[in-house]
Amino acid sequence: MSKTSNINRVDGFAKVTGSATYSAEYKTPGVVYGCLVGSTIARGRIKSIDTKKAEWAPGVLAVITHLNVDKPTGYQKVKDKRNFGQPLQIFKDDSVLYYDQPIALVIADTFERMQYAASLIKADYFKEEHSTDLQKAADKEKKIDTEKGNDYHRGEHDGYKNAEVIFEAEYTIPTEVHNPMELANIIAKWDGNKPTLYTKSQGVEGTRRSVAGVFDVPVEDVSVFSEYLGGAFGMGLHTWPYEIAALMGAKKLNRPVKLVLHREQMFTNVGFRPFTIQKMGLGATKAGKLTGLTHEAVAMTSSYEDFMEGTVNMSRFIYDCANVSTRYRIVPLDTCTPIWMRGPGEATGSFALECAMDEMAYKLNLDPIEFRKLNYAEKDQEQNKPWSSKYLLECYEGGMERIGWKNRKNEPGSVKEGNWLVGYGMGTGTFGCYRSPTSVKAKFLPDGNLVLQCSVNDMGPGTATMMTAIGAEITGLPVENIIIEMGKSGLPKGPTQGGSATTSSVGSAVHDACNLLVSKAVGLASGTLAFKGIPITELTFENGVISSKKNSSKSVTLASLLTANKLDELTVENLSKADEEAKKYSIYSFSVHFVKVLVNPNLGKIRLAHVVSCADIGTVINQKTSAGQMYGGAVGGIGMGLMEALEIDHRFGRPINNNFADYHVPVNADIEKQEVFFVNKKDPISNPMGTKGLGETALVGMAPAIANAVFNATGKRVRDLPITLDKII
Ligand code: MOS
Repeated sequence: MSKTSNINRVDGFAKVTGSATYSAEYKTPGVVYGCLVGSTIARGRIKSIDTKKAEWAPGVLAVITHLNVDKPTGYQKVKDKRNFGQPLQIFKDDSVLYYDQPIALVIADTFERMQYAASLIKADYFKEEHSTDLQKAADKEKKIDTEKGNDYHRGEHDGYKNAEVIFEAEYTIPTEVHNPMELANIIAKWDGNKPTLYTKSQGVEGTRRSVAGVFDVPVEDVSVFSEYLGGAFGMGLHTWPYEIAALMGAKKLNRPVKLVLHREQMFTNVGFRPFTIQKMGLGATKAGKLTGLTHEAVAMTSSYEDFMEGTVNMSRFIYDCANVSTRYRIVPLDTCTPIWMRGPGEATGSFALECAMDEMAYKLNLDPIEFRKLNYAEKDQEQNKPWSSKYLLECYEGGMERIGWKNRKNEPGSVKEGNWLVGYGMGTGTFGCYRSPTSVKAKFLPDGNLVLQCSVNDMGPGTATMMTAIGAEITGLPVENIIIEMGKSGLPKGPTQGGSATTSSVGSAVHDACNLLVSKAVGLASGTLAFKGIPITELTFENGVISSKKNSSKSVTLASLLTANKLDELTVENLSKADEEAKKYSIYSFSVHFVKVLVNPNLGKIRLAHVVSCADIGTVINQKTSAGQMYGGAVGGIGMGLMEALEIDHRFGRPINNNFADYHVPVNADIEKQEVFFVNKKDPISNPMGTKGLGETALVGMAPAIANAVFNATGKRVRDLPITLDKII
């Protein structure tokens, strides 16, 4: 363990004491308050909209609708394509494309007056027939063959059908919503033709590009501040219409406009994990060798934008299998566009795959882990490349031991504790390890501090802490001397925080920039009188002091070095990216989730007695923040398995449970014992630190682990999430 591998969260104090500034908390003189009024139909056109009463209400400054909006010039430039990244053009015309689609923006001088005025808006509609039910639409409506969704085949098409033992089943996952504690929020303002957004974003640079496109201004003229996020889980990966609306309002009034979505609007306007129907076909020999695997998925998207994710991708490489077919289609429905939600694609896909693997193991009378080991993939057969590293077997072993797998019996319902049926289950997870080009500026200051700058956001995983740990490790400076500046434009360009790629991308850039900076400092020192005659290779840098390895009395502090050279700072800005070598390997993180459930057969109540999540994420940079992420991701998976479902009343195309009382997520009391285990072995290829990714694989595989444990306890196989008690009794 290095000295930085267990440091506290560097922004923890700011967050728990309230000094961290979230988007809607920036002090902006003259700020006024806006809110969006949503449509009450799911599809059609606005016949009329009565804004008069709202306009005449006290304190109201503006009511913007499609009838009076100044349409941003970027609207016309959008080609008539359904490409992802061209979201709903708010107030473009009278069309209504989903329930609660914004039809008016009301702005007033106080929050209360704005709320009251918004309640006075009334609209009439030409209603059209809407379609929000994927289970109905999947058969009759035109499915979109997506470029990314090209069918994949290895070996024989649907080769599983020729196997000795065949298993087929259909699985569904419902729509789930991200709904972080911090609502979607923005303060928008303009300085002439230059917009500034204090907004909830997972990607400063992405938000800048989207806004520049809509308002047809240079990207450099768009400023974005998103320094702290109270969770996001993927919803901050898109620029949403509410952000554009706030900018429209601010432009019209030439004043800052603050707009915070209501909790109900979080269920309708900022994306979700899409309802997905999956068909699995597995074929194996009687001895348990997989010979064929077919995975098909049909998911929903919106009527105006194609959203895709890697739902079937994991099935192509996670097990050794000669004949693999995958198919993926999307169906446009009358809803807002879905967006990646933690473990996007793979979380959905692993539910079908890892349940089917469990069902097949049972059919073959094999222990589910034994079955997986029989089909362990020694290389990535999809890309035909070696793994960069793979410690999946260590994850199986670590989890089996901790959960007490030896107490499991293959026959369901055969283990009891008092009146409770006991079940053990597991599910495998994986997620690709990506690395985006990232710029970091590192500067030494005369006061002995090191400043690290990057525009990357931190939605909660502890990015600033990771940057601090790597910076401290390389420079030898104490953690207290490292200052992180991030989450805003104007800093060296960082990636969007998504796809579990931040440590790999930003961490590597910090690593490289700090090494270059230390070399620069040492180089500068070697030219000074103090080190005359000492070769540069004999100089070291530790804790702000450059000294001779052989004669430690010969040393110079960074501060005096800067002063002597009349420098205010010593700076390196460096762009860091993956090398060619990495392309020769298949780089994935792996996880295995284990659960022990207790089920009351009369009441259908499921207790999570013990949950163990094991992961191979390469090097663990920080045990505390990594464990925190893993706990959180696993809890997300538990929500997926047992609780979360956005219920739509398809008669009206509107959600019913659009609040935290009716949309359930797990709380501490729902999980009796939870553990996390990291293999913590360096990946030799991924990046200089040998990390892989963590955020997504923390969730992928949990929902099937629960379904498999429930089957093991009860003999009831639930293939439609979430596993609520009515499905057990
Ligand atoms: Mo993640 S779903 O890439 O925020």
